[in-house]
Amino acid sequence: MARCFVTRQLPGRALARLHSAHQVEVWPERLPPSYDELTRHAAGAEGLLTLLTDRVDAQLIDGATELRAISNYAVGYDNVDVIAATARGIPVGNTPDVLTDATADLAFALLLAAARRLPQAIEAVNAGDWRTWEPGRFLGYEVHGATLGIVGLGRIGSAVAKRAEGFEMSVLHTGGAGEVPLERLLREADFVSLHCPLTRATHHLIDAAALSSMRPSSILINTARGPIIDQEALHRALSDGTIAGAALDVTDPEPLPAGHPLLSAPNLIIAPHIGSATHAARERMTELAVENLLAGLEGAPMPHQVN
Ligand code: GLV
Ligand code: GLV
Repeated sequence: MARCFVTRQLPGRALARLHSAHQVEVWPERLPPSYDELTRHAAGAEGLLTLLTDRVDAQLIDGATELRAISNYAVGYDNVDVIAATARGIPVGNTPDVLTDATADLAFALLLAAARRLPQAIEAVNAGDWRTWEPGRFLGYEVHGATLGIVGLGRIGSAVAKRAEGFEMSVLHTGGAGEVPLERLLREADFVSLHCPLTRATHHLIDAAALSSMRPSSILINTARGPIIDQEALHRALSDGTIAGAALDVTDPEPLPAGHPLLSAPNLIIAPHIGSATHAARERMTELAVENLLAGLEGAPMPHQVN
């Protein structure tokens, strides 16, 4: 029996398997443990099941002298210092594949919502401001037949490209066979959707220069990680009409603090990081995260190990 710390209650029933094999403590709150609380719990743990809201850095790993396995409940693992974990021989697991379609669906939902100004239109109805059928109100952009630029043609990017086929879109992408330079993608795409992981190389990949090479009618969609976009530059680009709109499921930080300038930027939709938020995806993520942790604690390779 190993001591495990799980940083939040998780959907589905798979956590029961962890409880029956090990001594498990689950953080009971709605909000995540603070960094200090996480450090304290990690200090006595052999297994950690963390979320993208937990910062598992080198210092925390150093202090967790008995730690033998880290299982991250996400496909992204930029919140974990994998180099520090690897140096200690600690396997790190993630939860790919099971959330690919859910996240691609959400990217497309945001694309459609931003293109057709759906939140603004619904808001007008809710506010009692639907007076008549107005020829010139809530005009958006055609999705059908438009050009979609996919930044990062991995699992999720490819799933978005498949959806684009149904809308008879032309697809340009970076990453993988047939990729085009980012500069060309930004210049030619009507919609730019980000699907790369957050790394040193992709931090602020979409900066002022990148935004200025987009078209004034273009819409930017981000369901990957907030820091891939320079938010100050995005705020300026939305305010001065450099681009037509943006839809973000991720921001930097999350959540944005009340009064943050981006919250009142024009033509911007923000969702609270719900890319994988379907019953099926989140339950299967729990299964994968538990399988990874169980394997790691046994000293076996994790089914989805990133190091
Ligand atoms: C969510 O953002 C994930 O990485 O799974
Ligand atoms: C729209 O409802 C139309 O009939 O054009």
